[in-house]
Amino acid sequence: MARAPWWRDAVVYEIYVRSFADCDGDGVGDLPGIRERLRHLADLGVDAIWLTPFYPSPQADHGYDVADYRGVEPLFGTLTDFDELLRHAHELGLRMIIDIVPNHTSSQHAWFRLALVARPGSRERARYYFRPGRGRSGDRPPNNWTSHFGGPAWTRVPDGEWYLHLFDAGQPDLDWTNPEVGDEFESVLRFWLDRGVDGFRVDVANGLAKAEGLPDTRRGTPLPFTDQPAVHDVYRRWRRVLDSYAGDRMAVAEAWSDDAELRARYTRPDELHQAFNFHFQVADWSAAAFRRVIEDGLTTTSMIGAAPTWVLSSHDQPRHVSRYGGGEVGLARARAATLLMLALPGSGYLYQGEELGLPQVDVAPEHRQDPTWARSGSTDAGRDGSRVPIPWSGSAAPYGFGPGSAATWLPQPDDWAPLTVAAQTGLAGSTLEYYRAALALRHEHLAGLDEPLEWLPSPPGTLAFGRGRLVCTTNFTARPRRVTVEGRPLISSGAPVEGSTAVVRLPPTTTVWWVRR
Ligand code: NOJ
Repeated sequence: MARAPWWRDAVVYEIYVRSFADCDGDGVGDLPGIRERLRHLADLGVDAIWLTPFYPSPQADHGYDVADYRGVEPLFGTLTDFDELLRHAHELGLRMIIDIVPNHTSSQHAWFRLALVARPGSRERARYYFRPGRGRSGDRPPNNWTSHFGGPAWTRVPDGEWYLHLFDAGQPDLDWTNPEVGDEFESVLRFWLDRGVDGFRVDVANGLAKAEGLPDTRRGTPLPFTDQPAVHDVYRRWRRVLDSYAGDRMAVAEAWSDDAELRARYTRPDELHQAFNFHFQVADWSAAAFRRVIEDGLTTTSMIGAAPTWVLSSHDQPRHVSRYGGGEVGLARARAATLLMLALPGSGYLYQGEELGLPQVDVAPEHRQDPTWARSGSTDAGRDGSRVPIPWSGSAAPYGFGPGSAATWLPQPDDWAPLTVAAQTGLAGSTLEYYRAALALRHEHLAGLDEPLEWLPSPPGTLAFGRGRLVCTTNFTARPRRVTVEGRPLISSGAPVEGSTAVVRLPPTTTVWWVRR
């Protein structure tokens, strides 16, 4: 029987490039830094890495504002550094996927610079959404859309037209009805596929097509800038490109949508391979909430035979240790949630630093850099707190992040010494050793296992399910619970399990994996 493609059950580790490892000592992470630290990821036991954007960019949204899709931002290195990183990752058996940002460019992209100096109605402006304003003097934006980062989604240029940006003003939206845009992105995909990348994470995948005429948003009606039917033509074309390359190249869509059917459309057999299921990131810590997310995720993907995905933390959301209350309890819950996630069918996306149990950082207002902070009129602190550079070694900042003592681009807390990779390596019970053990066991018991999940009876406040010979039980409550398991415990996210008979006491706030007898 043919082996299932690697991505169907891969554990993919997200690297937020600015904050993973710094090689040149400027306090900002870079590609050579990642290369030097790849061993950490191979030892951790992940299957693939996902790099956030490293392209030339003024960094208005830390790389999600791309000025040149075929290069490397000098802050992060060179194209040769990229090739070296990819080669080394492949040597270590790690796949590598990269972020592609097709909804918008940077305002510093050559196309947008040309558009700014061109006249209204010109070919140069037709690659973006330039429109006259409303009102007699055109001084009101063309419609009522607001930026995801706060404020209006339109900025006026000196000749009086306005341009659309669903994110920062430095991220003008491309007009995908213009065939030049589709051709350009096909060429960009090929550029990186030719270099050997294993796939793409597609930024704002559901936003590329806008409703005809750019109508105002209206309460109670679908948003005119997400999930428009025309967006799927883009991915059908991309799929043909990906399929024309050897070696199971893939793409995963960032497509937040509450509607399962709309989300499933991105992963129809002739479109993208996966779409992120972000619902764990907004679920409470409870058996009922987790079960809902799991069932919804499995239903969505089974509608079309796609592979499920699961995400607990990312660079856009507060880290799960802190979402679950922080401190010891938050960490215990986070560890339990991770072990549960790793037992599910499909692939799990980990975010750098979660293997160290890092909490969300309360970044002081004067250090905040996320454009959300300024655009929201300083009402939304933004996402910096999950993007603080990760600690590798030593007892004080920068904790081995770079070679010298340069301050990191976002300050690290004073109390991270016990959380460094060095401090946790070889330490029994550390979160890092726990992740390593869990990933090794996942490989041993679940790799390539295409078996669905089978819910097992369990007391209130707990979940139990089986997959193949593995049984996963989670106690979401703060008290021990009795569960019936015919098996031998493999790993516990917390205290070891008591009881050797079929009925065992599951410790509070703990996930345990068992192998069936
Ligand atoms: C989603 C990315 O994950 C986020 O970090 C970014 O700000 C937006 N897309 C805009 O590109």
